[in-house]
Amino acid sequence: MRIDILTLFPEMFEGPLTQSIMKRAVDKGLVEMYFHDIRDYTLDKHKKVDDYAFGGGAGMVMTIQPIADLIEKLKGERKYDHVIYMTPDGQRFEQRIANTLSLSENIIILCGHYKGVDQRIRDNYVTMEISIGDYVLTGGELAAAVVSDAIIRLIPGVMSDETSALTDSFQDDLLSPPVYTRPADYNGWKVPDVLLSGNQAMIDQWREQQAYERTRKIRPDLLEE
Ligand code: 6GU
Repeated sequence: MRIDILTLFPEMFEGPLTQSIMKRAVDKGLVEMYFHDIRDYTLDKHKKVDDYAFGGGAGMVMTIQPIADLIEKLKGERKYDHVIYMTPDGQRFEQRIANTLSLSENIIILCGHYKGVDQRIRDNYVTMEISIGDYVLTGGELAAAVVSDAIIRLIPGVMSDETSALTDSFQDDLLSPPVYTRPADYNGWKVPDVLLSGNQAMIDQWREQQAYERTRKIRPDLLEE
């Protein structure tokens, strides 16, 4: 899988996508990630990438030319399954969308900033608009990193334990049960007896019941779907 991220702030991705499991996925050749600086493509002599909104109002709008040229260049090099625009007015990101996108070969993720991009970019290039939740961020970069992480960890071979991506919270619309590790007694804080019992059937039943109980308390909406 190849992910091309189009942004005015490529340095914002250093860190979230270059560490830990994401770094290993890249090192193993399971995913290729490219961070393109939209400013490198502007033909404006002052390197401008935004302008005032027609009709007035506060905030700048990202101009068409550098984004269009960059998308055209990439599309000339390979076929893309999706051109995703990160925006608070997109469809809300959830596990089901990550699952679908993880089956892609090549995707472009365009990060909006300021008041966002000229609508004509959305009308003519974008195939999917994603928000990561009902709150406003200063730009689409952190959201693009979240979406990329959620997609990449689903690629076979990325997670060391093949089953763990499938037993996550949300894959079965339940939150995860509590987990514990050694020591079994930390200054009197004890691990539930059942987990030390060695009775796997009882343990599985306890975990299922805990997952259900947690979901009912914290996210009852998941049980209604
Ligand atoms: Cl994708 N962008 C911005 N700027 N804010 C957001 C978002 C995206 N998703 C939630 N809030």
